[in-house]
Amino acid sequence: MVWANNQTGRTVLDFNDSWRFARGFSEEYLKTGFNDSDWLTTRVPHDWAISGPFDPKADGKTGKLPWKGEGCYRKSFTLPAEARGKRIICLFNGVMCSPQVFVNGKKAGEWDYGYNSFFVDLTEFVDFDRENVMTVHVNTGNFASRWYPGAGIYRKVTLLILDQIHMPVWGTFVTTPSVTKDLSAVDVKTEIVNKGAQKKRVQVVSAILSPAGNQVAGHSQTCDLDPNQTRELQSAMTVDKPDLWDVDNPILYTLRTTIKDGTTILDQNDTPFGIRKMEFTVNDGFHLNGRRVQLKGVNLHHDHGPLGAAFLPRAMQRQIEIMKDMGVNAIRTSHNMPDPGMLDLCDRMGILVFCEGFDKWDGTMGLKSPEVEFKAAMERNAVNWIRRDRNHPSVMLWSMCNENYRILTTPWGAEGIKFCVDLYKKLDPTRPVCLADFRRDKLLKDAERAQRLQPLDIMGWNYQRSYAAARKMLPDKPLIYSESSSALSTRGYYEFPHPAKMHVWSKSHQVESYDLSGRVDLPEVEFARMAADKYVAGEFVWSGFDYIGEPTPFDQDACSSYYGIVDLCGIPKDRFFLYRSHWNEKDTTMHILPDWNWPDRVGRNVPVYVYTSGDEAELFLNGKSMGKRKKLPPDAGGEDWEKLPIIDGLPANANYGIVDRYRLRWEDVIYQPGELKAVVYKNGRKIGEKTVRTAGPAEKIRLVTDRTVLKADGDDLCYVLVEMLDKDGNLCSKAEDMLTFKVEGAAKLAGVGNGNSTSLDSFTDDKHPLFFGKAMLIVRTIKGLKGPVKISVHNGKANAAEVTINTM
Ligand code: GAL
Repeated sequence: MVWANNQTGRTVLDFNDSWRFARGFSEEYLKTGFNDSDWLTTRVPHDWAISGPFDPKADGKTGKLPWKGEGCYRKSFTLPAEARGKRIICLFNGVMCSPQVFVNGKKAGEWDYGYNSFFVDLTEFVDFDRENVMTVHVNTGNFASRWYPGAGIYRKVTLLILDQIHMPVWGTFVTTPSVTKDLSAVDVKTEIVNKGAQKKRVQVVSAILSPAGNQVAGHSQTCDLDPNQTRELQSAMTVDKPDLWDVDNPILYTLRTTIKDGTTILDQNDTPFGIRKMEFTVNDGFHLNGRRVQLKGVNLHHDHGPLGAAFLPRAMQRQIEIMKDMGVNAIRTSHNMPDPGMLDLCDRMGILVFCEGFDKWDGTMGLKSPEVEFKAAMERNAVNWIRRDRNHPSVMLWSMCNENYRILTTPWGAEGIKFCVDLYKKLDPTRPVCLADFRRDKLLKDAERAQRLQPLDIMGWNYQRSYAAARKMLPDKPLIYSESSSALSTRGYYEFPHPAKMHVWSKSHQVESYDLSGRVDLPEVEFARMAADKYVAGEFVWSGFDYIGEPTPFDQDACSSYYGIVDLCGIPKDRFFLYRSHWNEKDTTMHILPDWNWPDRVGRNVPVYVYTSGDEAELFLNGKSMGKRKKLPPDAGGEDWEKLPIIDGLPANANYGIVDRYRLRWEDVIYQPGELKAVVYKNGRKIGEKTVRTAGPAEKIRLVTDRTVLKADGDDLCYVLVEMLDKDGNLCSKAEDMLTFKVEGAAKLAGVGNGNSTSLDSFTDDKHPLFFGKAMLIVRTIKGLKGPVKISVHNGKANAAEVTINTM
């Protein structure tokens, strides 16, 4: 370990290397001298369950992976001489779950909820003269989940060495109480603590640095601190002509806080923040810096497909890049607080965050007796969560729960709403507090429900235009469509003819990709609702990415979801282009479905759809026109809102009146192999063409890397898309070859996947099959190892490919 000797008073250390891990637990593991040499050596973030093996009989809803049980991590470390007399704090971004932290055999701290961050003061437990051993005992046994939670130290760990006088973790709070383009107020609250034995007078300096690093405002004050005293200092500053944080202009300022004793810097810390004004209105949705911004949102679970729950910033950045390309400007962290690194990315990438901490206030929050444990558990978790995340400009609200029937059915649950609103407001008076409620069923009469929900600032409603009825019930609440659509599909899979109803599922355990199937509503129905109901801030689609677990409608026959707009590896499904055509207003979208490889259907019907940002297209099959189709005007009428949301009974074509406003359909095309071409128009002017061709025999494997130079930091990733092509470069869309991968040089294989929700193939082996012609390989760098990385793949037959990238 390299110990930084810096000028800023605090030392911040990467504490992620050289952990030892084993499943199970024994008191022996706590002993300093325990021999762990046969344990796995790993760098965290680490998800012990992702390597499987899958158990076909295990619960499909949590992914059939071995996340339940106990595990143990051990790490030896020696503190530098300069650490003597300082505070030693260990910060965990997330451990799944119920971690108990021991140092040199003694318990130093613990936490419960696996999604939250926590820290442990190790000062009294470490030995400054000898090697120390930290043991983290993890136990997911009592945890309940509706999806795959992962297991282990799955988020990063940081060691802080601080002066006895310092800013406590998450003790800084920056707000922008008034924002205009000419002048903005920036208020800062800074906690400082004296853990030393002497009374001290210190100077606390707050400086606001512009994005270019120039100081634009500052404030200094003197403060007396008794031993063991914590004080909160305030400073009010202004910034002239601020560059406002916005979705298209994600500009960050930095608050630099310094504690000085004379000329000696005792502590210094940087807090990035944004200057922006957010407002949820009752009649006009969401306003950012004074203008209405339609929220085009997705729900994201916390996992990263083949990487499991392990949080690596590049995996998250890539998720956001893919979603942004589709036109997304908002993400709901369903249904748990994210890794703080996710919020750093949203700050920098201009994404608004519906920051949700909990699902149902039950076993999914780690509670055995919720009515007894709730308040204390909520309090300690909200304190860490909101103090940690309240400086992020991307965060627009706090959400306390999702579809939580306890708030409707139990007295303590109802009280819980008020309790959370008061608590969250105390921790952050600047943001609205909400929850995501669900269908207005028979659980509670409207009047009583309205009374229970009254303390909330804004209301999230899931599905079926339930917000419209809620508006009648609570007319003074701004509204947000917290979950929409829940459409289902499998990338690359088509069935003929179309399913008779939205809920007629295939025996194949896959879901057709003509986008006529779903649990609740088709995407276009939601588009039409959002176009009509401008009082709602916008929709959050369930879900942006496929995730591990919840494989509805094949709960026990599959292990990952079908809800994603992109598959588990981030490969777009057809639906991606439907959203992109409607949401991405900057770029042109042209997409044809299905693929054109149907040897068994020559002379038979294969419908063709085009998703485009154009409004009209002419389709040609082998040069012959199949006719022009034009989108219906947005106000075509025909919809009957009260009738549209019929669960489990809607014939597939009942939605066509809405669907035809957003997609172009040629239902009666008779299949012939060859070339299918769409010529696309907008306002009568040709904007481009898109072609798909029947593939010949498989001839070559193509490897497409998303990046060619990686950081040798042990966390950076390269995603390599693997595709089987014919000799002319057409995708062999039915290819299922078993591939063998090899990663040599300065990186290692981190994961493999193909988006097949029913697959029990390991995510971490060097073998994986293609699924509809594609698979994804993920390569992770090794800390400190720089140089070329050779990535190769073969299918055991004639086809092989290789590519070289570099780490620096
Ligand atoms: C919602 C729920 C989500 C997810 C979704 C699937 O009701 O809030 O967590 O389960 O259904 O459609």
